[in-house]
Amino acid sequence: SVVVNLRETLLLWYGHFGRDLPWRQSRDPYAIWVSEIMLQQTQVKTVIPYYERWLTLFPTLSALAIAEQQQVLKAWEGLGYYARARNLHRAAQDIMLRHQGVFPASPADVMQLPGIGRTTAGGILSAAFDQPMAILDGNVKRVLTRLVALPVPPKRAIADLWQLSEALLDRQQPRDFNQAIMDLGATVCMPHQPLCSSCPWNGHCEAYNQGIQAELPMAETR
Ligand code: ADE
Repeated sequence: SVVVNLRETLLLWYGHFGRDLPWRQSRDPYAIWVSEIMLQQTQVKTVIPYYERWLTLFPTLSALAIAEQQQVLKAWEGLGYYARARNLHRAAQDIMLRHQGVFPASPADVMQLPGIGRTTAGGILSAAFDQPMAILDGNVKRVLTRLVALPVPPKRAIADLWQLSEALLDRQQPRDFNQAIMDLGATVCMPHQPLCSSCPWNGHCEAYNQGIQAELPMAETR
């Protein structure tokens, strides 16, 4: 089927061209969580040194929980959007108190932590535990929007995009599938001049078929 072919071609592409990123070596939900929060509003190449330094300063969830807020904010200095650092700190304290210091494995528990919504929860639980949780970050939205040539701005079709992300997810290999679709968005299906001739999905991409990949996603209107 088409869906099976999309999964297979994406995972094969990822095996050859996926990026070797530091958090992909880890299965520690704490370390993966830190990476996902940093990556919410900051580019990969900026995040890498901050991620490495953070784990030296706060190697475990309990080390973060007992740190002074001032140390935490100092480790974040330069990344911007400081609410992310305060939420990490607060959530670490929540996990110590309410989950006995063990990062929760249930989506509902994870989504109750400050700073973690549905896509961040999916990113953490799929990467750390290989749970079959879909994601829908900016890169994935763009890839899916082009794949189906979505004729409306993404915000108008969030529920449909989530449904598509859920339907495509490879439930045998959710960790690799999610990392792969993020890499596809970041390195091939970029916002401008996407590299469609190098895309493992070009045979099934409705935008590419119609030659409208550069016009999508449609601009948000208000
Ligand atoms: N953006 C958000 N999560 C990411 C990840 N795990 N790898 C690369 N980019 C990301």
